[in-house]
Amino acid sequence: MKFGWRHTISGAIGVGIVCWLGLVVSAAGQTAPAPAEGVQMSENFFKNIQVLKGIPVDEFMDAMGMFSSSLGYDCASCHASGTDRSRFAVTTPAITRARGMIAMVNNINRMYFGGQPRVTCFTCHRTTYKPDAIPSLEAQYAALTDDPNAMTILADKRTTVDQVFDKYMTALGGADRAARLTSYVAKGTYAGFNTGGGEVPVEIYAKAPDQRAQISRLPDSDNVKIFDGRSGWAAEGWRPMPLLEFTGGNLSGMKVDAMVAFPAGIQKAFSQWQVGSALIDDKGVQVLQGTRPGELPVNFYFDDTGLLVRQVRWNKTSVGTVPTQIDYSDYRDVAGVKVPFKLLMTWTDGQNSFSLTEVRPNVAIEASRFAKPAPFQRK
Ligand code: HEC
Ligand code: HEC
Repeated sequence: MKFGWRHTISGAIGVGIVCWLGLVVSAAGQTAPAPAEGVQMSENFFKNIQVLKGIPVDEFMDAMGMFSSSLGYDCASCHASGTDRSRFAVTTPAITRARGMIAMVNNINRMYFGGQPRVTCFTCHRTTYKPDAIPSLEAQYAALTDDPNAMTILADKRTTVDQVFDKYMTALGGADRAARLTSYVAKGTYAGFNTGGGEVPVEIYAKAPDQRAQISRLPDSDNVKIFDGRSGWAAEGWRPMPLLEFTGGNLSGMKVDAMVAFPAGIQKAFSQWQVGSALIDDKGVQVLQGTRPGELPVNFYFDDTGLLVRQVRWNKTSVGTVPTQIDYSDYRDVAGVKVPFKLLMTWTDGQNSFSLTEVRPNVAIEASRFAKPAPFQRK
């Protein structure tokens, strides 16, 4: 239990623990749609749930991401899991300790913060399993850095929201052209922990305003993730269940991902915008934060050319809020519109990268592409 997650995740993959490292997507909002009918609750699907009851399976996996990220752990630091998934249900000393910590955190929030989730695992742990009790002079006197991904953005009073969007549209090739790109079919490669970091072929089907289907072709199976404009599913081998339906902020996040492919609609998709500035890799970026009623915000970051370089969004879980970051780069011309050919998704349990080689614009895509997928099956 003494390794950081960076070490253990790659190590774990090395020894073949390609387990369910949590969720790919976290997201924009929280009070978002109530669990759809048929969404399974954690205690009905898993075997040994004593505390984290009454939450959908996708949110449960995000709670696992919260633990891993906060403590700098990987799944196997708490779980007796190897390649055998059923062993996740085995109670280890670390799991007993973690259950106690969940109760402690709930008590603190109830007693001192009016039930608001002000204290989470991260408040104390800050990416270590052994929180420090003694203040750090090193940290106190170190140069201050602002986290560009913070949910509270540094307001920029000199720039307006419209200015940033106008510059974005111009950089893309103009609002008219952007609006005329209404679908595309892309091919490329995908790499993630479930491929052991290796590249496998991926296909992405996207249709305006907000439909998206992604199929990564692993040697032994096709892994599918779909957002049909309302509902989102994953039929992927590393997930806890063969067909996982997304809920809450994860679902809102899939909508944002789908919308980013057709940016002309982004501004109208949020009811409120705030503009700020931040530094990413020492370079100034403009931040637009979009909010929808009752949901967590989504941050969009634009570089000095005006193009979108990052998106950060959050998903609330019963043990705190987890972030997801997507970086966009390698913009290339597709039907006169700039499209990012590289995407890097970073979340509490790992990174997934997409590298496109071909994007065919305005292709007719049959509706069945975006239909609920069949449960995952190995070939
Ligand atoms: C800090 C310790 C900790 C870490 C790290 C952790 N978990 Fe857990 N996990 C728990 C606890 C505690 C429970 C039991 C929750 C309860 O009783 O409500 C649990 C339960 C589970 C279960 C349910 C098993 C069953 O059938 O009952 C699964 C699956 C699971 N975790 C997967 C993961 C994955 C995947 C990761 C890595 C992303 C992970 N966990 C990381 C503490 C942890
Ligand atoms: C109020 C501060 C605080 C919060 C909040 C907190 N912890 Fe802890 N946690 C500690 C301290 C202190 C230790 C003991 C570290 C040591 O042994 O020196 C600890 C230890 C642990 C350990 C044992 C680590 C090991 O392997 O030795 C686990 C597991 C753990 N915490 C999980 C969690 C989880 C999960 C959460 C969120 C639900 C959480 N903690 C929230 C303070 C906190």
